[in-house]
Amino acid sequence: MERKPARAAGTAAGHHQIRVTMRLVAVLALLPMAGGAEVDFSTRVRPVLEKYCLSCHNPERAYGQVRVDTAEALFSGKSLVKGAPEKSTLYTTMKAGTMPPAAPKATAEEIEAIRQWIGEGAVWPAGVRIGSPPPELADDRKLVTALRRRIVMNTKERREADMKPYEAKIPGTDVAFRMTPVRGGEFTMGAEQGSPNEKPAHRAKVDPFWMGVHEVTWDEYRLFMFSARDGAAPEVDAVSTPTRPYVEMSFGMGIKGYPAISMTQHAANKYAQWLSAKTGHFFRLPTEAEWEYACKARGAEQAPLDDYAWHDGNANGKYQQVGKKKPNAFGLYDMLGNVMEWTLDQYDPHTYAARGSELIVNPWVKSAEPYPHAVRGGGWADAPEGCTCTARLGSDPSWKVQDPQLPKSIWYHTDAQWLGFRLVRPLRIPSSDEMDAAWNNGVEEDP
Ligand code: HEC
Repeated sequence: MERKPARAAGTAAGHHQIRVTMRLVAVLALLPMAGGAEVDFSTRVRPVLEKYCLSCHNPERAYGQVRVDTAEALFSGKSLVKGAPEKSTLYTTMKAGTMPPAAPKATAEEIEAIRQWIGEGAVWPAGVRIGSPPPELADDRKLVTALRRRIVMNTKERREADMKPYEAKIPGTDVAFRMTPVRGGEFTMGAEQGSPNEKPAHRAKVDPFWMGVHEVTWDEYRLFMFSARDGAAPEVDAVSTPTRPYVEMSFGMGIKGYPAISMTQHAANKYAQWLSAKTGHFFRLPTEAEWEYACKARGAEQAPLDDYAWHDGNANGKYQQVGKKKPNAFGLYDMLGNVMEWTLDQYDPHTYAARGSELIVNPWVKSAEPYPHAVRGGGWADAPEGCTCTARLGSDPSWKVQDPQLPKSIWYHTDAQWLGFRLVRPLRIPSSDEMDAAWNNGVEEDP
């Protein structure tokens, strides 16, 4: 497959229609946010307090004896009278423009949200503490070291024989995900008959890992996307989580049991780190080699393709719920088709050509720049020929939303509605450096 900057243009004519419809759905999805009877604390109030007020009204610095970090601290002061915004200096100082004292100032809409919220009784969800994590646990190396310590203590499996399939719930929720062991081994990477970027076929070896039986679903991903810092687990709170999307991210294609889509690689990496912090096991994106090894499943053919994959001939112009087709010989569903899947590697069409005849072990082309990164497996908008274990595609900045009025985000590839991911959990627990490299893969900055 070719690297394609303008992917949509290259696909079937019907695809254009779908894109137009989706854009319309996206625009419509914005409308309910503008109205709405009640002001939602976590989306409309908290961000305002965090952005404009918290730096001067917190436990360390409570200027004017005002604190906005917890309900208790705020309500025990004099700045807020529930139900009476005009008597609440929290609102009147904002309205008068005296608070915050300097730019950036809150917008009229944000100030109005505070007024309404106070008017409605200033509901603050129980136990919620707003603000940044403690500085010693900022999302950096110290955090990674702390997470690693926990993962080491928490992990019982030492040898390949200890690896079993398992199902786990994301702690604090009823949302479960399944992992299955993929034994380590040697395989032929690439394809002699494939596109130029798949050649030449060469020998590679990968260490054992568990792999997600399914693509990560919205059920899982939305917990991360809308996660509120709860103060209970600082190492979880410290992982950076996405900003609110501007559009409804499933584009009307379905949520429950459906694969999460349109995330940047940075977002997928942070999901892996967040899940690691939540569960005490190390998760990351697969390398291209791991992904291909798991897809090929020791050469067991996935044919006829219709039994295994959703592609542009059978998917009805949208993604489908995960796990509805047959699994491959390793018990992995939807490796081909449905949504394309992120891998960790920097994409280079010439990677294979540069590899010699010697066996390469755990190859991983580390990032030198944010684009392109390798994406695998083909998706619902691809022809069957694109849904193979060897097809390779490089990510492209054009996958970001093109609407000039919307700021580009490091979290969303709004135009890549056929792109998702699944995670692996290597048996060997890597060093802090390796963990850091997997979670902060040079895609944090996006030009
Ligand atoms: C850069 C620091 C800073 C930021 C940011 C800031 N404040 Fe203040 N605030 C102060 C200082 C300093 C005082 C004490 C002023 C005084 O009374 O001398 C204060 C006092 C207050 C008071 C008590 C004032 C009174 O007269 O009763 C309220 C209420 C208040 N701030 C609300 C806010 C709100 C709401 C925000 C965010 C929209 C905010 N502040 C952002 C520095 C800040």
